[in-house]
Parts: sequence; structure tokens; C-alpha cells
Amino acid sequence: MKRLTAQQLRAAFLGFFESKGHTVIPSAPLVPQNDPTVLFTTAGMHPLVPYLLGENHPGGKRVVDVQKCIRTTDIDDVGDNRHLTFFEMLGNWSFGDYFKADAIAWSFEFLTSKDWLDLDPNQLYVSVFAGDAEVARDQEAIDAWKKAFKAHPTKPINAEFSEDVYTFGDVKRIFPYNRDKNWWQAGDKGPAGPDTEMFIDTEGELPGNMRVKHAHWIKLTGSSEACHINCDCGRFIEVWNNVFMQYNGLGGGKYELLAQPNVDTGMGLERVLTFSQGQNNVFDTELFKSAFNVIFDQVGEATNLQEDKARIIVDHLRASTFMAADGVVPSNKERGYIMRRILRRAIVHGKMLGLKDTWVEKIVSGYIRAYSEAYPELEQNRRNILNVILEEEQKFGKTLEAGLKEFRKYKEVTGTDAFNLFQSFGIPWEITKELALQSGMHVNKEEFEAEFKKHQELSRTASAGTFKGGLSDHSEIVVRMHTATHLLQAALRKVLGENVFQKGSNITPERLRFDFTHPEKMSAEQITEVEKIVNEYITRDLTVTKEIMTPDQARTLGAIGLFGEKYGETVSIYTISDAKNNEVVSREFCGGPHVSHTREIGKFKIFKEEAVSAGVRRIKAIVE
Ligand code: ALA
Repeated sequence: MKRLTAQQLRAAFLGFFESKGHTVIPSAPLVPQNDPTVLFTTAGMHPLVPYLLGENHPGGKRVVDVQKCIRTTDIDDVGDNRHLTFFEMLGNWSFGDYFKADAIAWSFEFLTSKDWLDLDPNQLYVSVFAGDAEVARDQEAIDAWKKAFKAHPTKPINAEFSEDVYTFGDVKRIFPYNRDKNWWQAGDKGPAGPDTEMFIDTEGELPGNMRVKHAHWIKLTGSSEACHINCDCGRFIEVWNNVFMQYNGLGGGKYELLAQPNVDTGMGLERVLTFSQGQNNVFDTELFKSAFNVIFDQVGEATNLQEDKARIIVDHLRASTFMAADGVVPSNKERGYIMRRILRRAIVHGKMLGLKDTWVEKIVSGYIRAYSEAYPELEQNRRNILNVILEEEQKFGKTLEAGLKEFRKYKEVTGTDAFNLFQSFGIPWEITKELALQSGMHVNKEEFEAEFKKHQELSRTASAGTFKGGLSDHSEIVVRMHTATHLLQAALRKVLGENVFQKGSNITPERLRFDFTHPEKMSAEQITEVEKIVNEYITRDLTVTKEIMTPDQARTLGAIGLFGEKYGETVSIYTISDAKNNEVVSREFCGGPHVSHTREIGKFKIFKEEAVSAGVRRIKAIVE
């Protein structure tokens, strides 16, 4: 296989599909823009759902991208040879254009052609959908793979496979699996279909003795299952998935045929890079080099256990860096809570390794440097990223020591203890679980979660009380301030960047209050600038219009805001635009009501800017 750097691999993938008529599109942010079904972008398909459902993409019917993704379902697996919390997904897309035959032929060509990755076809195995009562076996995919493999003779399959189960016809590189393995859908509803996955055999031509052999796996787990390409023992690594989206899930296991069949593919950049660089462990590429150097400069020669901790640290800090770049700040709910957990987990492991001084800052700065060519938003947000992460490090550092002391008092750890460690000392669940495991104790997760929920409900009720009385007041002054709030958000995004998102809003006849994500105090100049922009919008007498549309249409139009609507229902969108040149200044999901022309608002004045919590600022303003 050809030896490539990460940047060369990104360029090769984009270039290959460009040569097949695809338009290169940029990665969407990790924080889904108005998709309430997921907290983070977990696959390249999330930002593209509207186009998979039939909207026209400005790039045409074929696009290609490298998408930043976060998956936390595998968080316990981080530390093995292939799971990462943050990863890059290379994807080629057909919106009702080419389908299985081309997608598979191109996957094979990109992987095995001497001009591209030059993978030995003898190392490649694929899975296809076996078919069930509802959907037939994917013969079209099987035929496309047969054609590809036939043109490149491969050696017979390793005898260690149990052929009766996994042989398909006389082709021993194509393995049918059922819905558990070869069916893709992101949720109960939305685009879905059979997929075909490509696996690389790590026992092929790879050097080194770190391979996880199946015999070793059986010993480790007691599993007697014969090794197969999907058995998860680590011998075969899935590198690419081609999903053939022919269906739209209606919920409850019901499907309708999509008007246009699509192709959605996802290739794991880090995994392919690993093979390309002759490694068999995703942590052994150049992407993590500077981070490991920071750790091992302090730790010296590492034991296996230290190596595992180091992997968790470099993975979690990389994910945190990208989250911070996209405006996430650690908190106790939703995506902020996920960030807090992984960041604190990294910090605890660092503490256990005895890391000192500015190790977090050094690792994060290293990532910013290394990734800025591919993701300029890292360099652009350098200060914010470091502020957010280091503030959390400092805050947690203060309570961690006391929390560990408390932990050492326990003979056993109940779910309530685990919750108290979180509540009073900020120690997240995973860490308590890990600490307990190391001391031979077990913690009841359900009990912990029940406590956590109870607490969240209490605080929700409390905050519902705080917000009461806000927008239910539709007096003229409140309506004017409501429209001013939309202009304020637009101006803040202009001055502070696209990382600004609304966290809350409350309007009374006396003032408007707007909470938003931003990691530091605004300067006096920034406040003046925001005020000036809002007043300019007001004097331009922009038009405010309301439209009812589906959430998908709204997403396509780039509307921002908080909402909980599902596909199919309608939402109301308020657009503030300049009738003269059609410039859209603001487009938000909102129930209204609003003024119809911005001049009705009057003069806008900010009278306070303050912190609400780490990474969340509050502005109070009036209109006169
Ligand atoms: N959406 C597919 C995946 O994430 C490509 O595996």
C-alpha cells in the first residue's frame, strides 16, 4: 500500500472523486446545525440529510468531502487499536445519480489502483447485505464486487474461515451478513438502506508483532466463535462503508422507497492512514506524534498500562480541541457534558501518569498546529480553544484531589456515591467506574443514572420557573425586543464568530436578556461594535418575514435556533432581510411574534455583559 501522510490521503480521496465528476465540499461543524436528532455529527451523512431526502445540493448530484465526526458510543473501546472519539470520515455522495455499480467499482479502484492507494487486493474482504423477509439480498452489490475481484485475481481465502457459514458461491471475499451488520440508518426515521463494508486483513503483509490474533482473542474472551471478517477480534479492520440509501424510514420499522436512491460512503481516515504507514494501530500515525511526545518526554519508557492511559489522553484531548473549535464548552448537560466527561477523563489519566506543568496546553497547541492546514478553524480559534480547555483543567484540578481523597474512603461505591463524586467533586461517571475497577469494586450505572436524572429534573423545574413570564408577554415593547434579540445574535456571530449560539433568552418589558456561547469576556470595542451593527440593521429598515416549512427545508436554508421538531412536521422560520438586495441578515427557528420592519424596534443599547457559567456569556440590553 502506498505510504501517505494524512494531508496526502485527504487530497488523494478528494482528487480521485473530483476526477469522477464530484464537487469538493467543506466539512460541516461537529455541532449539528439544527439537527436535534444527534448531539454531534457522527457521520458524514448528518449535514447532508436534506439532500439525501431530495433537496438540490448547490454542488450538484455528486459531492465529496472530509467530515469531522465525534462518536462517543465507543468511548469504552478507546485504547484498542482502532477506536477513536474524534475521527475524520472521507465520503463520496450521489444524490440520485450513480448507484451501486459505480460506487463499488470506484471504491475498489481507489483502494487497489497503483495510481491511488495501491492496496494489495489479497488484503481486502467485503461484506454485503444478506437479505431478509423485508428486503432482498443485495445481488447488485455482490455482482459489482465479483466483477472487481475477477479483474484482479486474489489468492484463495485463508483456511481458518469456517467456509460453510461465510462462503458465498465460489467467491470467498464477499461475505453476506444480516441487518445487524449490513444495514445503515442513523435513526428510526430518515434515509436508510443496505450497505457494503470493506475490511483490511491485518495479517496480510503487515510487519510487526502487535497483531491481535484470533487465538489470543478466544483466550481473552472465552468466545468460541470462529474468526470472520466481522468478528471484531481486531484482525480485520473495517475501513470503508458504502451505504445504498434506497429507503426512507417512517418509524416503527416501516419504510418507503426514496424517490431518488443515494450513495453515502464513509472511509475512516485514521484507519486507512494506519495501513498506509505500515502500522496496525491507529495511534501510530503522525497525527498523534506530538501529543505522545509531550507525555513520554515526562513518563519515559512506558508500560502497557501507561500506554493505554496515554492513548486515552491523546484521543480525548484531540476530540476536546475540535469540540472547542466548534463552540462547545464543558457543562453539565448535553454536548457540554460529553465534552466535560472526556476532558476530565484525560486530565485524570494525566494525573495518574504524573504529568505536570503545562502538559494539557502543550498537547492542545500541538493539535492546533498540526491540524490547521486541513482545518483552519483551529488556528482561527486558538485563543478560545485554549481558554475553554485550560479553564476546565483549572476548575477540575481544584476539586479532583479532594474527590480522589473521598473516593479512597469508600469500601464499596454505590451509584449514589458515584453521583456525589460527580456533583461535589466534578468526577464524571467513567472515571469513578475506572477507579473502582482498579480497586476491584463495581459501581451500579443504573443507580448513578437515576440520581443524575433526578437532579436534572430538579434543575429543569427551577429554570422553568426563572423563565416564566418571558415571551408569553406579547406587549409591543416585548415584541420589539424579541426582534432585536434576533439581530443581536446575528451581530454577535458577525463580531465574535460562528461559534456563538443562543443558550437562552428572556424578555420582560424592562429589558432583554440573551445568553450565548463564547469563552471569554467581550471587550468594550466588541460590545460597541455589536451595538453599532444592530442599530445599523434597525435603520436599514429590514423586512421581517415568517414562513412555515419543514425542518429539512429550514436546514437547507441555513436557519439557526433551538427546536425540537421531527422530520415531517412544520416549523416557523423568521427571516430578516434587506428587500433591496435580498441580503439575509438573520434566519431563525422561532415562534414569534415579531415586528414587520426593523425600524419599529427603536434604538438598541447594551447595558451589561457578564458571565453565566464557563463559556456562556449574558448580554442585557434595552430598546428605546
Ligand atoms: N454513513 C455511513 C457510516 O457512517 C457511511 O458508516
